[in-house]
Amino acid sequence: MATNQELIGRKELDDLEAILSISNKDVNELEHAIRASSDSLFTWDYQQSRPGLVKLYEKAKSSQWNAATDLDWSIDVDQEQVVMANAAQNMAAQQGFGAQFDLAGTPFEKWTDKEWVEFGIESQNWTLSQFMHGEQGALICTAQIVETVPWIDAKYYAATQVMDEARHVEVFSRYLDEKLSGHYPINVHLQMLLDDIIADGRWDMTYLGMQIMVEGLALAAFGFIHQMTTEPLLKKMLRYVMADEARHVAFGVLSLKEYYHELSGPEIRERQEFAFEAAVRMRDRFLQQEVWERMGVDVREAVKLIMQAEDRRVFQSMLFSKIVPNCKKLGLLDAGDAWLRHRFTELGVIQFEDWVDTGEEYASLDEVAKDREASNA
Ligand SMILES: [Fe+2]
Ligand SMILES: [Fe+2]
Repeated sequence: MATNQELIGRKELDDLEAILSISNKDVNELEHAIRASSDSLFTWDYQQSRPGLVKLYEKAKSSQWNAATDLDWSIDVDQEQVVMANAAQNMAAQQGFGAQFDLAGTPFEKWTDKEWVEFGIESQNWTLSQFMHGEQGALICTAQIVETVPWIDAKYYAATQVMDEARHVEVFSRYLDEKLSGHYPINVHLQMLLDDIIADGRWDMTYLGMQIMVEGLALAAFGFIHQMTTEPLLKKMLRYVMADEARHVAFGVLSLKEYYHELSGPEIRERQEFAFEAAVRMRDRFLQQEVWERMGVDVREAVKLIMQAEDRRVFQSMLFSKIVPNCKKLGLLDAGDAWLRHRFTELGVIQFEDWVDTGEEYASLDEVAKDREASNA
């Protein structure tokens, strides 16, 4: 039975020193290599025998969009204005501390709106940079699935997802270059997670790490920002990306649901542990330590405060609103001695278990078709 130490490299979930002791040391590297241990599989069974995946594949083919022509890149973005509009009246409250949080005696005590706006801008640069890096992770993972998954239906579908992910990297990268004011290198916790997923190489682990965990979180995070932002280009871009992501998560749920039936108790336990490790890495990355660093505040103090802020806690746990119901649908939550249920309880995210899972959500999210219909009307 694996311990916290073995799974996440520390005993206590909230051990701040341990979390912050890992940082990205290769911020100037241009390439990053991961050795995957997997076989590339041919299949000679060309029969399309999985109706759920066939349906998803057809949907994916008709829902393709073109980042260059379906989005209006001529829209001018005033980042400062966007940050102020999102913040309404209380800058500090908007940045996650909550209106009630007492900032007296903290490094933020003397911050005026000017610093909070600057922080809001950096925070947006950071967030979208991490999305872009995560999208590249998805591109690589899904290309890997094309090679490793044994079913022809899944190879077909994954091929469409590879195209989707290329488009997602393209839009985030272009938005960062043309509309925002700076890039951040990949966050170390996100990198560790992507490295682990890719290195494992077993096709179902790639799915669990990427389609269920990373993309489940992305779907929730994009939804949150989509709802909040007043900037029309980002709003439409996220709406389109989310429609694709909903299919990707459905792809994971459909495929794993079938496969997990074949697995033994200890094999399922290994999947539970992997899901937990991924959840912790993703939570760690949202402490956005690099932004505090760039703002010149003491990272330890800032992160300690942020961890105590109620609004932040609510936001962080919301990010798991898709992951937990999907894990439940896959049977991972309660398999064996309900190990994953206990871990998700410890992480403070178990309350989402009965929220809608993402198995069918994609069907109602055909944003591209909706827009085409509207423009032909
Ligand atoms: Fe994506
Ligand atoms: Fe995706």
